[in-house]
Amino acid sequence: MAETFFITTAIDYTNGAPHIGHAYEKVLADVLARYHRLTGEEVFFLTGVDQHGQKVQQSAEKQAVAPQTFVDGVTEKFVALWEKLGVQYDRWAATTNPLHKECVRNILQRLMDEGHLYKATRAGHYSVRQEQFLTDKERGEDGQFGPEWGEVVFLEEENYLFRLAEHRDWLLNLLDQRPHLIQPDFRRAELRNAVEKLSGDLTISRPKSRLTWGIEFPFDADFVTYVWFDALVNYISFAPGYNPAPQAQLSEFERWWPALHVIGKDILIPAHGVYWLIMLKALGFPDAAMPTLLVHGWWNIAGAKMSKSLGNSVDPSILADQYGSEALRYYLMSDIATGRDADFNEERLIQRFNADLANSLGNLLNRSLNMAHKYRHGALRATTSTELLTLTRDALSIDRVAPEYRAHFDQHAVHAALERVFALVTACNQFIDTQKPWTVAKHPELADRLDAILYLLAEALRISAILLSPVLPSAARGIFDQLGLQGPLRIEDAHWGVLPDGHTLSRPVPLFPRIEPQEPTTKA
Ligand code: ME8
Ligand code: MG
Repeated sequence: MAETFFITTAIDYTNGAPHIGHAYEKVLADVLARYHRLTGEEVFFLTGVDQHGQKVQQSAEKQAVAPQTFVDGVTEKFVALWEKLGVQYDRWAATTNPLHKECVRNILQRLMDEGHLYKATRAGHYSVRQEQFLTDKERGEDGQFGPEWGEVVFLEEENYLFRLAEHRDWLLNLLDQRPHLIQPDFRRAELRNAVEKLSGDLTISRPKSRLTWGIEFPFDADFVTYVWFDALVNYISFAPGYNPAPQAQLSEFERWWPALHVIGKDILIPAHGVYWLIMLKALGFPDAAMPTLLVHGWWNIAGAKMSKSLGNSVDPSILADQYGSEALRYYLMSDIATGRDADFNEERLIQRFNADLANSLGNLLNRSLNMAHKYRHGALRATTSTELLTLTRDALSIDRVAPEYRAHFDQHAVHAALERVFALVTACNQFIDTQKPWTVAKHPELADRLDAILYLLAEALRISAILLSPVLPSAARGIFDQLGLQGPLRIEDAHWGVLPDGHTLSRPVPLFPRIEPQEPTTKA
């Protein structure tokens, strides 16, 4: 049976519109999912929306609509964006889904029955914006809670707490024993430092007197579930075959689990790195079933954090309409190193599209097919001559491309994998310039050499299309069409010699029309 690959993203808050950071994370996960499908693995890709919590309740109140109406409206925007960007998920995790709510309630009941929860009165400072209690650790050097916490109020209330602190040493040990669970490694180091300081337990309920928009506790109707506890459960409540009952048969679930969770750097500590891993531990997940956290960096705008209040956030839907969804996908995957931050810049998007896709790849496709039609009516001849294989296959090390690309993908370094493909494309364009097929064509005695050159170019384009397909699925299909190929794109075919002798290429059609930068607006 095929190997399985289970990938998830963070579920996006539905208190506002999707921004470029959301688009990046979903495209990154989609690209990894498509890469694993390309390798023949069975893939399950889960993404969705985080719909509960105080922020949503407040936004709905401001608009004088029911919270469900409010989140349904925002959710539609996310669904439409993923459709537009070709994000191909297998299941939609929306936390107001009754099946999810039931799962959260069953988990709470089980954790209560097994002694992981207790009720206590807590008095302390509470951040309304972050929906959490604050401790002295959150105070700045001046002793005050910084602006990132928004309005801070003093609360004294009874709540349910989840026993976190007792798992501190277990978690430290896990991070030491299985370091690759947190990627990149510098994030593991940050998490480890945070876990060393872990002391208190986690308040996982909110009294209904101040928050009603949440999942009601199964054993106490005066409380709803803290939004993070609710949201994190999505990774198992929507997974194939999960059942929270203590003695449940989990064979389907275990076929998929553990997942690779793709998340941004702001939600590693404490949400995923502390709460989620300890929640799974409390539910009886063994160490070998702990998920991997792939922590990506952030897109900034002109070096500054994107924010609603700065009004500098970029609408990915508008960008996709203006430049095309594949242009946006390509930019988001090529102009950032996974794990690091990058600066979003619309001019860079245009430059990269024009340089890499319109000029390098588009030109290679166009000139290769044009020459094949001009000199050979589109028909290819495969060669077995050692000399000609040395001139073509070996000179460009074409069979090294896919293994090197895969090594980058296995490190989630999508940008580096793309660079490897474009190095081949550039090498092919240079090869044409040095070999001058138009001169070779003038010499009938060099007919075999011309055939070998044209065959190399077609093979390089075919392999490039396969390897680019996770990022550019429709352009890859377009290249296959022009090469006169129909079959599925599979990584196992990304090597020399698949096109048969006598294969006929189709006609070239421009795939990547140059984006003309808009005229700078001149001041009157
Ligand atoms: O955190 N660049 O939702 P969210 C890159 N609902 N990624 C960014 C980004 C940026 N500028 N801004 C945000 C939540 N992100 C929770 C998650 S998971 C059980 C619950 C990323 O809508 C962010 O890091 O605030 C996170 O991974 C995702 O977008 C959703 O952020
Ligand atoms: Mg956030």
